[in-house]
Amino acid sequence: MSTSSHALPGGTWTLGDLTVTRFGYGAMQLAGPGVLGPPADRDGALDVLREAADLGITHIDTAGAYGPRVTNQLIREALHPYPDALHIVTKVGATRDLQGGWPPARRPDDLRRAVHENLEDLGLDALDVVDLRLGYAHGPQPGSLAEPFETLAELQQEGLVRHLGVSNATADQVTEARTIAPIVCVQNMYNLAHRHDDDLIDDLAADGIAYVPFFPLGGFTPLQSATLSAVATRLGTTPMSIALSWLLHRSPNILLIPGTSSTAHLRENISGARIPLPGKELDELDTIGH
Ligand SMILES: NC(=O)c1ccc[n+]([C@@H]2O[C@H](COP(=O)([O-])OP(=O)(O)OC[C@H]3O[C@@H](n4cnc5c(N)ncnc54)[C@H](OP(=O)(O)O)[C@@H]3O)[C@@H](O)[C@H]2O)c1
Repeated sequence: MSTSSHALPGGTWTLGDLTVTRFGYGAMQLAGPGVLGPPADRDGALDVLREAADLGITHIDTAGAYGPRVTNQLIREALHPYPDALHIVTKVGATRDLQGGWPPARRPDDLRRAVHENLEDLGLDALDVVDLRLGYAHGPQPGSLAEPFETLAELQQEGLVRHLGVSNATADQVTEARTIAPIVCVQNMYNLAHRHDDDLIDDLAADGIAYVPFFPLGGFTPLQSATLSAVATRLGTTPMSIALSWLLHRSPNILLIPGTSSTAHLRENISGARIPLPGKELDELDTIGH
């Protein structure tokens, strides 16, 4: 049975003209090992996507590079035709190589092809939000994004993309992107232990732009901290629950996209993100990343 989105922790946020639940779902973990190929448990992957929608989640994060193309095709199989309220955010700007790496693919023809592949695989006439994924697998890389971002702005003007964002970006690249076209979100690595973007988050909040932390639970290396574990034990919950709840407390423009291939973890993460964090615990958690 569908649950109202108001039941999800954190309420909603508006990306341009699209209202999404602040508790979203990151679909990367649905592909096979190393985010390559099909999942071992295909039916299980489809179940997770359907469960996310049934629980009222209206923000799914994906990329053509996941699989590659596998995750988008699973999303389409599980959820198409999409409920009106559901919004899919995808990323372009990286491809996959035979070693499982994520080399850049940001020439104008790469980006055009990627947008068309996303449209085809997701079964859409226009993509809700497209992030330009910058940098490399190990993090952002300084440098101008003018040429690739201008290409995405053209695709937006052609009606193939509704809203734009950037990912794995430096603060300077965010500023440069905004001189070319409005952005609705920035998706960078950030969690309790990795606070490099603290100032950027506050600046974006002041301008009504969403900040979407990837690896909210630590990604491939789960978050580990004695302080985090102590707070979780005291509040009778898990470190992952505290990590998600802390992000919702951190700033109203933070949208969650925790990844999981398990419906049990999905439900656990929703109830975990709801846990209130008293001031004393917030102060303690604040010491982890500083
Ligand atoms: N823009 C970029 O460059 C970029 C890079 C990386 C990721 N992303 C996006 O960000 C999303 C989130 O990142 P992520 O999925 O890599 O990392 P994450 O959300 O930090 O962590 C996901 C990992 O945590 C585990 N997990 C989740 N809930 C759990 C629970 N309740 N108990 C125990 N383990 C749990 C998952 O395993 P199970 O499957 O077993 O639950 C999975 O291994 C991705 O899905 C993707 O959409 C973007």
